[in-house]
Amino acid sequence: MNNHFIAYDAYKKLAKRYAEIIDVKPHNAEYERPSFLSLIPDIKGKKVLDAGCGTGSLTEWLVDHGSEVIGVDASPHMLEEAMKRIKYKATLRLHDLREPLSFIEDESIDLVASSLVMHYLENIDYVFKEFNRIIKPGGYFIFSIEHPFSVFIDRPSDNYYNVEPVSFNWDGFTEVPVLVPSYRRPLESYTETLAKSGFCIERLIEPKPTLRFKEQLPDSYERHLINPLFMMIKAKKY
Ligand SMILES: C[S@@+](CC[C@H](N)C(=O)[O-])C[C@H]1O[C@@H](n2cnc3c(N)ncnc32)[C@H](O)[C@@H]1O
Repeated sequence: MNNHFIAYDAYKKLAKRYAEIIDVKPHNAEYERPSFLSLIPDIKGKKVLDAGCGTGSLTEWLVDHGSEVIGVDASPHMLEEAMKRIKYKATLRLHDLREPLSFIEDESIDLVASSLVMHYLENIDYVFKEFNRIIKPGGYFIFSIEHPFSVFIDRPSDNYYNVEPVSFNWDGFTEVPVLVPSYRRPLESYTETLAKSGFCIERLIEPKPTLRFKEQLPDSYERHLINPLFMMIKAKKY
C-alpha cells in the first residue's frame, strides 16, 4: 500500500494544465494570490521555504523579489512543472511535508510561505512544529487555506469539530473535472496549533476577489462577496 498524500492522484491529473493557467486563472490570480502576497514582508536577501510549491508560480515571485528559495512539494508531477519554470533559480525538492525537513537547519529560514497546501494534511501539529524549528526567531509562517466555514457549508458534517476528508470536483482546469480531496478542520485547530507550536497570529484575513475577477466571472464575484473561499494567516515565531 502506498502512503501518498491525499491529493496525489488529483495533482497527477492536474499538473500540466495547472502550470499553464495558474498565473491567469481568476480564482488564483485575482483572488487568492493578491491577498496572499499582500501579507509577505520585505524578503530581499532573506531565506524562504515555499512549502507545497506546486508548479512554481509563488516560488518565482519569491525569487524575483530577491529571496533565496527552497521549494518543496510531494507531487513529482507538480514538481516537474516547477523545474521547467524555475530551472536553477531556486532549490526544488520532492518532499512530503508529513516527513521531517531534516535537510533544513534549525532557525535558518526567515519565512515559510505556503499557498493552499495545509488543508491537504490530516495532521498539522507535526508540520507546524517543524516550521517553527526551522524559522528564525521573529520570522514568519504565512499560509492560505480553503476557508473552513465555506467548506463546512458546502460539505455539511455532523460535527464541526472533527477533522474530516472532503472532496470537490475542480472543473476550472481540465476538460474532465478532477475530484480533489482535502481535509476540513475547525478554524480553532489552525489557530490553536499555531499557538502550541510557538507562533502568534499577526493577521488573519478573509479576502474578497478583485475587480478584475468581477470582469471575468461576475456571478462568482457576487457569490464570493458574501461567501468567502479562502482564508490566510500571517503568524510570527516568538
Ligand atoms: C493548490 S496546490 C498549490 C501549489 C502552489 N503553492 C501554488 O500556490 O500554486 C497544492 C500543492 O500542495 C502539494 N501538497 C499537498 N500535500 C502535500 C504534502 N503532504 N507535502 C508536500 N506537498 C503537498 C500538492 O502536490 C500541490 O502541489
